[in-house]
Amino acid sequence: MEEKVINAALLGLGTVGTGVYKVLKMQEDEMTAKIGCKVRITRVLVRNLEKAAAKVDDPSILTNNWEDIITDSSIKIVIEVMGGINPAQTYITEALKAGKHVVSANKDLIAVNGKELLDAAEASHSDFLFEAAVAGGIPIIRPLKQCLAGNHLSEVMGIVNGTTNFILTKMSQEGMEFQDALALATKLGYAEADPTADIDGLDAGRKVAILASVAFNSRVVFDDVYIEGITKISAKDIRYAKEMGCTIKLLGVARNTDEGIEAYVCPMLIPSTHPLATVNDSYNAVFVNGDAVEDAMFFGRGAGQLPTASAVVGDVFDIVRNIQADCSGRIGCTCYKNLPVKKMENAHSRFFLRLHVEDRCGVLAEMTEVFAKYHVSVAQIIQRDTLDDGCAEVVVITAKVREGDFKTAIEELSNRSSVKKISRTIRVYGK
Ligand code: NAP
Ligand code: HSE
Repeated sequence: MEEKVINAALLGLGTVGTGVYKVLKMQEDEMTAKIGCKVRITRVLVRNLEKAAAKVDDPSILTNNWEDIITDSSIKIVIEVMGGINPAQTYITEALKAGKHVVSANKDLIAVNGKELLDAAEASHSDFLFEAAVAGGIPIIRPLKQCLAGNHLSEVMGIVNGTTNFILTKMSQEGMEFQDALALATKLGYAEADPTADIDGLDAGRKVAILASVAFNSRVVFDDVYIEGITKISAKDIRYAKEMGCTIKLLGVARNTDEGIEAYVCPMLIPSTHPLATVNDSYNAVFVNGDAVEDAMFFGRGAGQLPTASAVVGDVFDIVRNIQADCSGRIGCTCYKNLPVKKMENAHSRFFLRLHVEDRCGVLAEMTEVFAKYHVSVAQIIQRDTLDDGCAEVVVITAKVREGDFKTAIEELSNRSSVKKISRTIRVYGK
């Protein structure tokens, strides 16, 4: 009996596209037993045909013309792993309108225009799946939409960028300064030639927008996410954090509060006893809290050729199963609420504050007087010996305070003659 085959097209044959091609080959022998038919890549869209030729068994499947794919009715699944907003958005939309199913790893696009893409999928009863767009190989979108659907989720947070986690790990474990750790990440191939999206927190911000939308059933877009990167973190901040029982991580946090959704990415102190504090190097981890499940943590490779392809191929297999059971489009957009997203100034956080003050009697009293005026309560304090400039270095961890109040207190402090320099403010993770 002839084996059933479903034809698919790849858009892009870079890191992830090549990984998808390889993983499908790795699965070739048991695919039919596993999902009831074979998936065959019959077309691959690239810009540079010559560069791609060595990556596939049969170079005649390569094309640089989208029309070859969109007009081919034998292609049922389009796998978008080319990245960028356009033409990716146009190709995905056209494919969905043509009744093809789409898998995408494109967080940049989904964090901005996810709703439009999911609407297009719904209109044509097609599947649009994007497991690889958040935390690469770690299953998190499907667990949030399906396995954890019986919960009201209150928080989804974690380490969703491998490059910055590698840099912060080197700074913490080897005392490196940021620039040296970044240079090492570049040398080892973790950081891209232009590392801006990673070190400035934009990549993590896109993932937080997607996670928040899926977890809280309400659309959060990239522009809603407050973002700070790690470029200002110094080895000294990390040393003080350790003295205070904490580790510094770039955290993406989405929280569902009574006043609306909080969504932010910033370097944060996290207690060294928290499971996320032990997630090192380029690993990612996502922590979820729900009213039924309580805490759940997902850990693994957040990027890379085969880990990311693992998530993409999982989506492809899901689509194949849906096609065979005639139930495509079963789980589409899950944003059925319209919750407000809180402005960061109205969020409540604890803060780590490092400052240089005059080394004389009464200065700490002056500081706490300003704090009291703006409801800032001190939870921990360290004072170091006199510095070269004759000042004392004071490091404080505050209790939870409204962000706007803390900012005003810092502005007022910085205008006091006894305060010579506010060296750093970093948020401290805690409920
Ligand atoms: P990549 O290595 O730069 O590969 C991109 C591929 O897409 C190349 O084959 C490129 O072809 C092709 N391409 C780009 N624009 C095109 C266009 N306009 N027309 C035709 N082909 C085009 O990128 P990647 O790292 O594989 O990432 C792909 C997607 O996966 C992105 O959305 C990324 O955010 C996401 N992602 C990546 C990872 C990861 O670990 N890399 C992890 C999670 C998600 P040419 O080479 O011929 O230009
Ligand atoms: N640049 C990302 C990271 C991988 O360092 O985690 C792609 O999402």
